[in-house]
Amino acid sequence: MKIIVTGGAGFIGSNFIFHMLREHPEDRVICLDKLTYAGNLSTLESVMDRPNFRFVRADICDREAVDQLFHEEKPDAVVNFAAESHVDRSILNPGIFLQTNVLGTQTLMDMCLRHGIGRYHQVSTDEVYGDLPLDRPDLFFTEETPIHTSSPYSASKAGADLLVLAYHRTFGLPATISRCSNNYGPYHFPEKLIPLMIANALNDKPLPVYGEGKNVRDWLYVEDHCRAIDLIIRRGRAGEVYNVGGHNEMRNIDIVRLICRELGKPESLIVHVEDRKGHDMRYAIDPTKIHRELGWLPETKFADGIQKTIRWYLDNRQWWEKIISGEYMNYYEKMYGSREILPG
Ligand code: NAD
Ligand code: TYD
Repeated sequence: MKIIVTGGAGFIGSNFIFHMLREHPEDRVICLDKLTYAGNLSTLESVMDRPNFRFVRADICDREAVDQLFHEEKPDAVVNFAAESHVDRSILNPGIFLQTNVLGTQTLMDMCLRHGIGRYHQVSTDEVYGDLPLDRPDLFFTEETPIHTSSPYSASKAGADLLVLAYHRTFGLPATISRCSNNYGPYHFPEKLIPLMIANALNDKPLPVYGEGKNVRDWLYVEDHCRAIDLIIRRGRAGEVYNVGGHNEMRNIDIVRLICRELGKPESLIVHVEDRKGHDMRYAIDPTKIHRELGWLPETKFADGIQKTIRWYLDNRQWWEKIISGEYMNYYEKMYGSREILPG
């Protein structure tokens, strides 16, 4: 199988490339990535020289570049991870989210149709379902849950999902969608909750928890997500949506406390800061369909996954320190410098 992976220099895309090259050494993997602030070529260093791997720097919105690559490579499948992915940035600047997440998806699908590509897979998120109330632990997102978005990020992802389903129905594009819960693991950009807290704790910097920290996320180790996508592109039914999640709900504040404990840092580093606008309360995925149809189950328990992740950040300090010393610091100043600190 020959697969084009877009956004492969980011967090989940790079983990997916490692997964594919390890599990399917006979496959050819081509990574197309624009290398935005979130894309990091050093992440792919260990596979760059593999004969069955190729990296191409391009924007998924660039029709000519995508057309040319599809013409050259004639892939069997395209897996689209490329996106603007951070909710807080989407609140600061929604435009680029619509551009990349919606129009970029359209460009990729147009080119899939033009080149007769056998499978297009859209990597989406549970955030398209909006949120669930904290006092209804019996409720979960299924594939039938209505789309109901809160942030420009989730709205752009939902827009893309609807377009994928429309391209399937109207033009017969053989497409699938996965909607996964929050991922964590190696190469996670240190603007997201878990890597940010690990990096700040290691530098003895404040740990900024939004509001009271009672918001709940459903955490999945990134490798489990990669296995799910691998199964879907091989055996998933075209036109279908698959929810991916491991029934591992945690409150933000509990995650931050756990990181403090694991690193031997005092909880006095925790500061409660002004809440995120429109902050979703709880995400919780019902993964019954992917289990029933494709036999997928998560393999990594949170207790093990978080230890592996912390270990990785301890062993790979240069990877994240390079990031937080650069452009990211300007964003950090803008995002957190102006945030009111709440009485904890
Ligand atoms: P990320 O921000 O770490 O990586 C995104 C990658 O896309 C980067 O390498 C970036 O350079 C690239 N990119 C951005 N715009 C591009 C463009 N116009 N053209 C080409 N490349 C471009 O994101 P991530 O956390 O790895 O998320 C990957 C995908 O998975 C996204 O679609 C996201 O919505 C989805 N998702 C993420 C999570 C999560 O917890 N992180 C959960 C569910 C779904
Ligand atoms: P994040 O990692 O941005 O993922 P998402 O918003 O897509 O779920 O945030 C996870 C949760 O952590 C979310 O409820 C917001 C919260 N959060 C903080 O409390 N402080 C922070 O500095 C960040 C980045 C997130």
